[in-house]
Amino acid sequence: MAISFTLPKWYDLHTHFRQGENVNQYIADHLAMGCAGALAMPNTRPPVSQITGKGSEDACSIESYRAELLAAGGDAFDQLITPLYLTGDTTAEMIAEGAGSGLLQAAKYYPPHGTTNAEHGVAIDEWIGGDVFRAMEDHGVVLCIHGEQHGLVGADYFDAQQSAESVFYNEKLPAILEAHPRLRLVCEHITTSVAVDFVAQAPERVAATVTPQHLLYTVGDLIQGLKYHLYCLPLVKFDADREALRAAVTKVGQNKFFAGTDSAPHTSKVLDCGCAAGCYTGACAPQLYAMAFEQAGVDFDTDSGRAVFESFLSTNGPAFYGFATSEDTFTLSKVPSQVAVFESEEGPVVPLPVGMDLQLTWSIEN
Ligand code: DOR
Ligand code: ZN
Repeated sequence: MAISFTLPKWYDLHTHFRQGENVNQYIADHLAMGCAGALAMPNTRPPVSQITGKGSEDACSIESYRAELLAAGGDAFDQLITPLYLTGDTTAEMIAEGAGSGLLQAAKYYPPHGTTNAEHGVAIDEWIGGDVFRAMEDHGVVLCIHGEQHGLVGADYFDAQQSAESVFYNEKLPAILEAHPRLRLVCEHITTSVAVDFVAQAPERVAATVTPQHLLYTVGDLIQGLKYHLYCLPLVKFDADREALRAAVTKVGQNKFFAGTDSAPHTSKVLDCGCAAGCYTGACAPQLYAMAFEQAGVDFDTDSGRAVFESFLSTNGPAFYGFATSEDTFTLSKVPSQVAVFESEEGPVVPLPVGMDLQLTWSIEN
């Protein structure tokens, strides 16, 4: 008999639903994979950089973005968090007002030009000690942080000794914690042992999301054959980093590391000069996480193995954001399954297992 177990529906606390025609499909894929709720990142075009209002060519509001997502099927989620994109136009007053209205639960830091649609980001030094982060502390607004140092090139950006991420965690995050002693933060899609160590030794107010791709792959997998469907930011790293991530997420009793897929659909991965960053894991993230946990040595035939997976997927994330574990359930079975390419009008969205020629060894029943 194949291993099969039932667990509370899970929360994807870092995903990208985008805007427009394809949103319905992206949300449907999340619902199909047992997702009870999601945190939908604000790097849309235009960015979600206002709290209320109809928006303009340059900005859209949390209010209008939520309305779009809810109308596209998101009303089936128990929870939907729509963070504010921190830009040069963000003010402390907006934070206070947004938190007061209940629309603002989190805000996202993007390193300027550091990733897809990150051109509205403002350098981290300009936020540290400032009144926007202070207002976030005062009002309990979570800082979701894309922890990479912007502006680095060549070997400073990425080599075996350091990366944009390790520099950021060594140099910037201690300063943020010190300047803002009550700020709650989620270190998004961490990829390095430096970031893992930082989060593990930080106070309880610091947590982290971890993606399936960073648990499954290393930079060798990306480079061998230039597997551009695995190209995402931060980049997949080295084996020691993946080991550190695997150890962190599978540690019995850990409550700081949780699921955030960074599922990021692109209808064209190929740019004029380079590649769009983002891996699409809609419809298959729990299966991928289960495969990664097995590779990390977790035995799903044991209570403790299933418990550690459940904490990561279904419990730790909602607990950090202050809502209950879902009372609904879904079932994972060790039976192979498949995901299909989504042939949208804008172009094909290729899920990671298809792009990596990876056979899913688990399947889901909702
Ligand atoms: O790989 C990524 N894709 N990393 C990000 O930070 C953004 C995301 C996207 O929006 O495509
Ligand atoms: Zn993201």
